Amino acid sequence: MKSRTKTTTARPLTNGSASSIANAPAETRRVTTRTIREMKKRGEKVTMVTAYDFTFARLFDDAGADVLLVGDSLSNVIQGNETTIPVTLDEMIYHARLVVRGVREHAMVICDMPFMSFQVSVEEGFRNAGRIMKETGAGGIKIEGGERVTDHVRRMSEAGIPVMGHLGLTPQSIHQFGTYRTRGITKDEANRIKQDAKALQDAGVFAIVLEKVPASLAKEITEMLTVSTIGIGAGKHCDGQVLVMHDLLGLTEEFHPRFVRRYATLAETVRTAIRKYDSDIKKGRFPNESESY
Ligand code: KIV
Repeated sequence: MKSRTKTTTARPLTNGSASSIANAPAETRRVTTRTIREMKKRGEKVTMVTAYDFTFARLFDDAGADVLLVGDSLSNVIQGNETTIPVTLDEMIYHARLVVRGVREHAMVICDMPFMSFQVSVEEGFRNAGRIMKETGAGGIKIEGGERVTDHVRRMSEAGIPVMGHLGLTPQSIHQFGTYRTRGITKDEANRIKQDAKALQDAGVFAIVLEKVPASLAKEITEMLTVSTIGIGAGKHCDGQVLVMHDLLGLTEEFHPRFVRRYATLAETVRTAIRKYDSDIKKGRFPNESESY
């Protein structure tokens, strides 16, 4: 299990600065890497949430989320796999396209590079990141790993592909680590994560997800970097926060890590609605006359 832890009315990308977001005309409201940078300077937090389809992307964008992440957690929550390993690049591209279509106003869409889409070589990773950008319309990609992916990050950034890093618990390495425990507890591991964060920044990322690391370490990294940190299970000092939509909406019920706050209980809402629908059909109460032609 992952760490677990429109119609096209999309506005043109105008690199509108965050300071202009509140009062700007619609076409300057779209979040870009520049917006994220300026939000950090102003101490304004970034709200990121995963999304995998058109309908939820539309709702999250309407509600003002800054970044929609088409996470490879789709392997878990959409496909029902135990890990993020099985999801393919083509599947990620398909879902990212749906999410991009849902955004009409504000949110930047970031698509995860799935397992084995970049590990073989820098060139292959670069080509696959290019596919994501060209075939989905996403605003950037996310890649797991530290120093071992800095050449990838450099190559992509130089070509104009915005890259988000991902450190701490990196679920694509589950078979290497064997556990989803908190990372960066030991001094050595904490130092490694700090070095990785600095190396990613130097290579050109615009933000870094910090997953399941101590809040004190995340604070140190956030203060050390000029690029933004987005935490999940990394305490309150990060420049932004991300949660998997199924967790925050209460669609997943068996997954209870302490970093998840449930803002709704949709699983029960859905079950109640379907039970009522079933009962109405069985008893002949649906459809009624006004619902018929
Ligand atoms: O795949 C995902 O959803 C993620 C977030 C949990 C950061 O990587």
